[in-house]
Amino acid sequence: MSAQHSAEPNDEPNDEPNSSAFIFALADAAATGELGHRLASVLLPGDLVILEGDLGAGKTTLTQGMGAGLGVRGPITSPTFVVARHHRNLHGGPSLVHVDVYRVGSFGEVDDLDLDDETAVTVVEWGAGVVDHLSDSYLHVLLKVDHGDLGEQRTAVVTGVGQGWERLRSLSL
Ligand SMILES: Nc1ncnc2c1ncn2[C@@H]1O[C@H](COP(=O)(O)OP(=O)(O)OP(=O)(O)O)[C@@H](O)[C@H]1O
Ligand SMILES: [Mg+2]
Repeated sequence: MSAQHSAEPNDEPNDEPNSSAFIFALADAAATGELGHRLASVLLPGDLVILEGDLGAGKTTLTQGMGAGLGVRGPITSPTFVVARHHRNLHGGPSLVHVDVYRVGSFGEVDDLDLDDETAVTVVEWGAGVVDHLSDSYLHVLLKVDHGDLGEQRTAVVTGVGQGWERLRSLSL
């Protein structure tokens, strides 16, 4: 994984939520996991992480890296039949709630999931446009797969939405 470029964090006082975006090139699956591991180092209990990306873009792989970084009990797998899985922390840190809303049909069903666990980091695959309303502040990770002349290129765009994401700056170090 290499940090290709980091946009200047937006510190201007305005009506928009504070946001800062960081872009990472992901050469292989291990790099996706490594980014997850790195993100875990800035995550706090109560954080919501929304993962966006096409089928097979690496959402579960990123979550596995986050789980490893947080030190939660595994295995983290694609929650095909279970919408949400709770992974307890083995070291006293936040647990990980891993959610896949791909098959969730309505906002009512999302609210039924009670995803506001203040003791856990909650990671939601396919969460963009589905769980954003649950929190004013969340981490958005867009996993992109581009097919160009050089073959497949994968990147992650990590954006802190709302307050409290100044801590992302340590990612670019
Ligand atoms: N940066 C990468 N380069 C190449 N392969 C990758 C990369 N990241 C993940 N993969 C691979 O892509 C495949 C799909 O990954 P993964 O299951 O994490 O995707 P997903 O977005 O969770 O899929 P789904 O949409 O089905 O939930 C896996 O075989 C994984 O190892
Ligand atoms: Mg998945």
